[in-house]
Parts: sequence; C-alpha cells; structure tokens
Amino acid sequence: MGMKLKIGLLASGNGSNLQAIIDRSEQGLLDARVVCVVTNRADAFALERARRHGIPAIHLSHRDFSSREEYDASLVKLLREHGVQLVVLAGFMRIITRVLLEAFPAAVMNIHPALLPSFPGLDAQRQALEHGAKLAGCTVHFVDEGTDTGPIIIQSAVPILPDDTVESLSHRILLREHQSYSRAIQLYALGRLAIQGRRVIITGEHALGESSLSNPAVSQ
Ligand code: GAR
Repeated sequence: MGMKLKIGLLASGNGSNLQAIIDRSEQGLLDARVVCVVTNRADAFALERARRHGIPAIHLSHRDFSSREEYDASLVKLLREHGVQLVVLAGFMRIITRVLLEAFPAAVMNIHPALLPSFPGLDAQRQALEHGAKLAGCTVHFVDEGTDTGPIIIQSAVPILPDDTVESLSHRILLREHQSYSRAIQLYALGRLAIQGRRVIITGEHALGESSLSNPAVSQ
C-alpha cells in the first residue's frame, strides 16, 4: 500500500474518471492510489465520490485568488502536503500554469474527449459531431503549457454512429476514457513511460502490427 504511486486528482464535475481510477485501485489493478481530490467547484460530485472512499476532498475556489499563478501555487502546496507524485487532471476545467508544471515536471496528465490534435478545447464531442468526423475517441497526454497539446500517451478511437447525439457519443467515449486513463496511470506507475520530444515511448509494449481501426469497416 505504502509503495503505491500517490495520485493527486483535480476535477471540476461529475468525477466518473475519478471513480474508475478509485475502483481499479481498490480492486488491486493499479500500483497507484488517489491520496487527495481537489476541485475548483464546491458542487463538484467528484468531492462526494472521494469522501465515500475516505479520500481527502478539498474545494479550492479560484474566486479566492487574483491570478492563475497564485491559484496554482496554492494547489502545489496542497498536493505536496499529501505527498503527491503524479497529478491527474480528470475533467478539471481550468487552464493550469507553469507554476504547477514546474513543481511536477513530466508528472501532470490530462484526458481529453477527442483524438488530439483534432478538437482541442471545450465541447470536443460536439466539435467532432458537427465536423462530421467518423471516428471520435479520447487521448491521455502529459500536460504542457498549451491547451491539450502535450505528448500523447494513449489514444482510443470510438465510432461516431449515424444517430449519435452529443450525449450518446460522450457516454461511449467516457467508457473508453475510464479504461485508457487507468492504463496510462499504470504504465506511469511501472516506470514504463519515457518522453522523447513530442513522443511518449512505452517500454515493453507490443506493436499492433498490421491491424487497423476503420469506421465504416473497410474490406478489400
Ligand atoms: C471527460 O469527458 C473528460 O475527458 C472531459 O470532461 C469529462 C469529465 O468527466 N475533459 C475535458 O473536456 C477537458 N478539456 P468526469 O468528471 O465524469 O470524469
């Protein structure tokens, strides 16, 4: 237990990704555990989820700070107090600054509900639908100073179906998010991720070879 990687998770809303990570950790599937949850919104359900599992849940309102940097400095203090080794952004709807990034070099991850670099920013699922894309998905990446621009760890594609709404597509993507985020965290916990420029090298990973994902299916 004490050997496990200590995660500090930042969220703003429902916290279904948080729940997926807690569940897998409690099932012994992760060499990591969530040691604190911080939200910028008092009504974030993520806080309640954390408390139900005995995890310290902290509301840190951005309204109490006059700059993003000051907010992040306060975040860093909190995360350090809990011995956090990896910062996991899971639906944290705030832009973070170099104050946080410099305190946790190569140790801040984010998940985004699109196949980056397509559709960064807000309402990614709606952007993909309105663009008429055939594949959507999610991306887990290390965070850099841009918005959704950091080195990519894992991507998972899901088809966009003819009758999809933003809600139905978002739900399908979320199911993949829950798997992908836990996988990325486990790879990190095992020390298997190496950042080389823009690329994240995963040691010991088997290549997919000739297989491909196509929607609609393609046969020759
Ligand atoms: C997730 O779909 C996540 O990818 C997205 O917010 C949702 C949070 O869900 N994040 C972003 O859009 C970040 N730009 P959750 O609170 O149930 O984990």
